[in-house]
Amino acid sequence: MKVVAFNSSARLDGNTAILLKTALGELEREGIQTELIQLAKEQIPGCGACYRCFKQKDERCSVDTDPVNDYIAKMAAADGILLGSPVYFADITANMKALIERCGMVSRANDDLYQRKVGAGVVAVRRGGAIHAFNSLNHFFTIGQMVIVGSSYWNIGIGREPGEVLSDAEGIQTMKTLGKNMAWLLKTVGLSNRYGG
Ligand SMILES: Cc1cc2nc3c(=O)[nH]c(=O)nc-3n(C[C@H](O)[C@H](O)[C@H](O)COP(=O)(O)O)c2cc1C
Repeated sequence: MKVVAFNSSARLDGNTAILLKTALGELEREGIQTELIQLAKEQIPGCGACYRCFKQKDERCSVDTDPVNDYIAKMAAADGILLGSPVYFADITANMKALIERCGMVSRANDDLYQRKVGAGVVAVRRGGAIHAFNSLNHFFTIGQMVIVGSSYWNIGIGREPGEVLSDAEGIQTMKTLGKNMAWLLKTVGLSNRYGG
């Protein structure tokens, strides 16, 4: 089984990456393969509303000049998906919004490509807007027939400078619990989904 995580921060290996890696660490301890994809060096355009994905239905975005088609394939191949974003102006980053628009449209054009996969959003925040950003991430899962996994708190870690989230003990614990719960869900619900149950 595999979980793929996306970090949409403009900062490589910052707080969002730390939070995601904490959850992924628990998944690995449970024998689940993981991959972290960081978008820091990418500038991903949003959906251009060409609707070619609905005509072609080939599980691809018609824009092939950036890595989004690789990301779509990685999501489709995974059993679980984590979407991580820092809060930028009380919401997710522009790259995460673009990822959601394009992967989301291709999913809709292909009979909900990621349906019944297990998913969760993860948010790094300095002070305000975390719940709003968390909700924005969850929109991706709920429209796509995915199953959202919860934790002991909403999946938020508090910090400003890279590494500061490590001082947020409750945030780190929330990520560990999230990873454990995701592993449990994957091993029960996820397997039956994968084999058509
Ligand atoms: C453009 C920009 C906008 C931000 N807006 C907010 C905000 O609205 N609320 C907040 O609490 N923090 C805000 N922050 C701070 C980041 O959310 C915070 O530093 C977070 O830990 C960054 O995570 P990262 O290290 O993964 O990039 C903003 C940072 C940037 C660069």
